Amino acid sequence: MTPDRLARLPKAELHCHLEGTASPALVQRQAARHGVDVSDILADGAYRRGDFQTFLRAYDRASALFRTEEDYAELTRTYLAAIAAEGAFHAELFVSPDHARAAGLAPRTYIGAVAAGAARAEADHGIVCRLIVVGVRHFGVAAVEAAARFAAEPGLPRVSGFGLAGDETVGRPADFARAFAIAGEAGLGLTAHAGEFAGPDAVRETLDALKPSRLGHGVRAVEDRELLRRIAAEGVVLEVCPGSNLALGVYPSPAAHPLRRLVEAGCRVTVNSDDPPFFATSLAAEYAFARDRQGLAESVLAGFTRTAIEAAFVDKDTRRMLE
Ligand code: ADE
Ligand code: ZN
Repeated sequence: MTPDRLARLPKAELHCHLEGTASPALVQRQAARHGVDVSDILADGAYRRGDFQTFLRAYDRASALFRTEEDYAELTRTYLAAIAAEGAFHAELFVSPDHARAAGLAPRTYIGAVAAGAARAEADHGIVCRLIVVGVRHFGVAAVEAAARFAAEPGLPRVSGFGLAGDETVGRPADFARAFAIAGEAGLGLTAHAGEFAGPDAVRETLDALKPSRLGHGVRAVEDRELLRRIAAEGVVLEVCPGSNLALGVYPSPAAHPLRRLVEAGCRVTVNSDDPPFFATSLAAEYAFARDRQGLAESVLAGFTRTAIEAAFVDKDTRRMLE
């Protein structure tokens, strides 16, 4: 496929953290506005590179600079406009009531603002957007259950899913079973970060205990052939984020990334940007990675988009409209 054809390929994104879309320039502006020194997280107009813990701290520090409804509406609108320009027609954004509360915004107000930004982008660019409320694992079981109860409240605009994010090495998957039961009973789609840093056992336990239809990352499942067979057989969809994995050192080089092996094992795969400016990536760059660094064909890339729509947390009518 020529670069031109890749630009025109229809794309969809299932795994992107809203606060993780803030560009370094925007974070710098917000920091100046609020009199905050961000030299520990930014250098030379880019996010400083580091390990996962360093990233999570930088993410928290950047998130705390978004404090008003206007901030969140604009962050949402800007990101959706950017990926629409790359060919995306559907996106699901992770939203974190805990981060909003820490920044001084009530969760309902936060969701309302994000939904308003999404509505603007939908009107301007035709991109459909849904929101997935996340609980942050290293904030503790009680916080994740509170996030699930919040997500299950009726009348939250555009909220169609619940997810588990944060530091996968904290706690056991079963600790979060009650949160997932609350969200599942409310009819929300379920996804959990697993197999990003922790190995196949954590992926298996996550599938058993939380029963998500999708896994955030899931890439380390590649280390266990039996688990790969299970993921393929059960049709669990993997939200693969190669740029994130490479930036955070999960794999030492593009060639070492298991994207292609997951596809060849028959897993249902999508590609996603996770926290794009933190990892110097974009949704289009992830599709380009699949083609240029993993040698995957145009038909496989088109299949990523098809799989994302099949696995999207949308109602029947919306899915039909997206197909
Ligand atoms: N929160 C934001 N980005 C994340 C990631 N890559 N893994 C876990 N939690 C996150
Ligand atoms: Zn993520």
